[in-house]
This record gives sequence, C-alpha cells and structure tokens, in this order.
Amino acid sequence: MNPELEAKIKQALANPSNVGELPDADSVGTVGNSDCGEMLRMWIKYKEDQGKKVIDKATFQSFGCETAIAVASLATQLIQGKTPEEAMALKPEELSQDLGPLPPMKIHCAQLVEGALKSALTEPATDDSNKKSSPADSASSMADKNINPTLMDSLKSAEKPAGKIKFIQRNESH
Ligand code: FES
Repeated sequence: MNPELEAKIKQALANPSNVGELPDADSVGTVGNSDCGEMLRMWIKYKEDQGKKVIDKATFQSFGCETAIAVASLATQLIQGKTPEEAMALKPEELSQDLGPLPPMKIHCAQLVEGALKSALTEPATDDSNKKSSPADSASSMADKNINPTLMDSLKSAEKPAGKIKFIQRNESH
C-alpha cells in the first residue's frame, strides 16, 4: 500500500464518522466476505426534503479491515442528503474516492461497503434490534426470521448464512 493511501486511511480511522448502531433506523443491511471473513453492517435513516425521500443519516459497524472501516466512514458521509436511487448508483470507487485509488487487493474492501449500502437500501429494518419490543417478542422474532441482533452474533452464526446477511465473493486475490 502506498504511504499516501496509508496516511489517509489512518486519518479516517483516527476519527471515524458515523460508527455504531442507529436507533430508529429505517433500514439495515449486513454483508460478509466469505473469503477474508470481514463483515459490515449499515443502518440508514431517511427524511423528507422538499418532497423527496433522502438519506438523513447512515451509520455502520464493522468487523472489517482498516480499509473497509475507512471507506465505510467516508461512504456514510457521502450518501447523506442523497436519494436512495442516487446512493444505489454509487460505485465502490466513488465510495472510496477520498482515499484515492485502492490497490487491487483492497478493492474488495470498498465492495464490502457497497454491498452493505445496497443491502441497507433494499432491506427495511422491520425486526432489527433498533425496533423496540419486549424481550419475548424479540426472541420469537429472531427465531422465526433468523435475524441476528448484533454484528457479533452475525459473525458467530456466519457458518450458517441466513437471515439478512449477504455474503459477497471477492474477485481479487490478496
Ligand atoms: Fe477483506 Fe478488507 S474487507 S481485507
């Protein structure tokens, strides 16, 4: 990795934006990369702006490499104020543009962020832990729908991909 990129990633990691669960999110998406084992979850909240539905805020949680965290941090800032369609159209290289070009072995890190974003844009947060419900409701909901309440639980059950976790395949080799 070139020193300039490394410095930009370190800078993004020093003060990452929008980390953590977003209470009352409208949608949530989780993806994992079966190859490197990294996983990322993104929450999105929308608002109405001049008659248009736009992204009010997005947050993420990651058990990913530093590059994925840096890209996710930048991406959650980039998509603020965009319509779901505009956000959906963003390519991995646009999400990571502030870092500059990524080396081939790190391109899949930006693809992981893209996957989580697209998943969040298409999955409503109908039964995620954001929604307030009694523990019994939440347990039965999770059992019924095989939803994992936290990213750590998602990781633990990663051998049996189900529920809202989407696994994406990596094309590049390390
Ligand atoms: Fe796999 Fe970055 S997401 S190494």
